[in-house]
Amino acid sequence: MRGKVLLASGFHAPVAGEVDVLEDALIAVDGEGVILSVTRRGEADYDAVKARAVAEGRLERLPEGSYLLPGFVDCHVHAPQYPQLGGALDVSLEVWLQKYTFPLEARYADLAFAKRAYGLLVEDLIANGTTTTLYFATVHQDATRALVDTCLEKGQRALIGKVVMDNVESCPDYYRDASVDAALEGTRALIDYVRMHPDNAAGLVKPVVTPRFIPSCTDATLEGLGAIAGECGCHVQTHCSESDWEHGYVLSRHGMTDTESLDRFALLGRHTMLAHSNLLTASDMEKIRVREAAVAHCPLSNAYFAGAVFPLRAALEKGLHVGLGTDISGGPSASMLENCRAAVTVSRMLETGVDPAVDAATRANGQPARIDFRHAFHVATAGGAKALDLPVGQFSPGYRFDAIVIDTTAKAGSMRLWDEFDSGDGVLQKIVFTASKANIATVWVDGKTVSSR
Ligand code: GUN
Ligand code: FE
Repeated sequence: MRGKVLLASGFHAPVAGEVDVLEDALIAVDGEGVILSVTRRGEADYDAVKARAVAEGRLERLPEGSYLLPGFVDCHVHAPQYPQLGGALDVSLEVWLQKYTFPLEARYADLAFAKRAYGLLVEDLIANGTTTTLYFATVHQDATRALVDTCLEKGQRALIGKVVMDNVESCPDYYRDASVDAALEGTRALIDYVRMHPDNAAGLVKPVVTPRFIPSCTDATLEGLGAIAGECGCHVQTHCSESDWEHGYVLSRHGMTDTESLDRFALLGRHTMLAHSNLLTASDMEKIRVREAAVAHCPLSNAYFAGAVFPLRAALEKGLHVGLGTDISGGPSASMLENCRAAVTVSRMLETGVDPAVDAATRANGQPARIDFRHAFHVATAGGAKALDLPVGQFSPGYRFDAIVIDTTAKAGSMRLWDEFDSGDGVLQKIVFTASKANIATVWVDGKTVSSR
């Protein structure tokens, strides 16, 4: 691939709560998709960089009304639940798992079904501007490999785990790892498959140690997975203190919180992503910060299944790594834009409450809880990338060029900008609140076009 220099206006948010506005910036990307330089209008060498790009035939100009954003980093997706997206939202988490979700995930024993569903999912996520996804697959080896193959084929950056669930007390006979050894061997085999894949030399896909959640795993398996994560230096993902039921289960089985228990099993480290984490104690938050682990905030899913709101602002102010997740299909939308909006909305409900009888000081412990579009955009891009320790999510030299173009003039899209009213990061605010998949014109991963309309 030939390098290029993109002349674009757009936005990125390397720092939580701040948006950096790029106006007619020159972003030079090499043939491997690495950002070489970002030159702003007014900088001394701006004209020279532009003239050289023109002379070499490498200048690509975004059309009027188009804005460049980093691609979205979705920190929590259940790939097999895609056929259920937007459905099965009428029951509690524990009922939902047994009644709808485990039977659906068990279908992935059928490789042809898995290939079809995963192909449609990855295409949909890319079209929604999601350039990196952290995926839970299923317990099945072949189907999980098919998800790896699909991401490599379609060019999406991905972190993928074979789901581990071997606890006979909470997992059905028809959908479970057969034994501790099967769970651990399956995890090792997937790590090897990803790392030795002939099409994965650039490391676009990474393996993830994936205990579904503590209730689904025996202690022997949790211990073995902690050892594998340490040996292989892999990412780890799991659900953490999501709902009353789940949090209570761990308290009664282990006599401690999810966070403390995961730490005990060596599953809480720099590359751990804890989905949900709604019911963290102050000391859990401190432990997550010290271990440099991360939280995947899933605002839509939490509204349906957890009945709780993760205190995003408090976590960011404490210095925790936080990314945003759709939690397909616990959350009924595959769109990170919709989840940005939900993150803002639920933060405001957390701060102001819905019950006038509740004293303001008791809500969110009396702390300001609201976030705005800047925080939401940060966790959806640079925040999630930093949480995963990936060099994406912002336009800075040395980072990979994973980016999207929002066409604000798109006839099909629902958004509209007003020249006389919208400027600066107000344009991003309108994008976050009103853009949809129809406005996403181009998607690049590692500098390669993976979707374009
Ligand atoms: N806890 C264990 N499994 C799941 C799942 O698939 N979705 C959600 N939201 N929570 C879980
Ligand atoms: Fe989940």
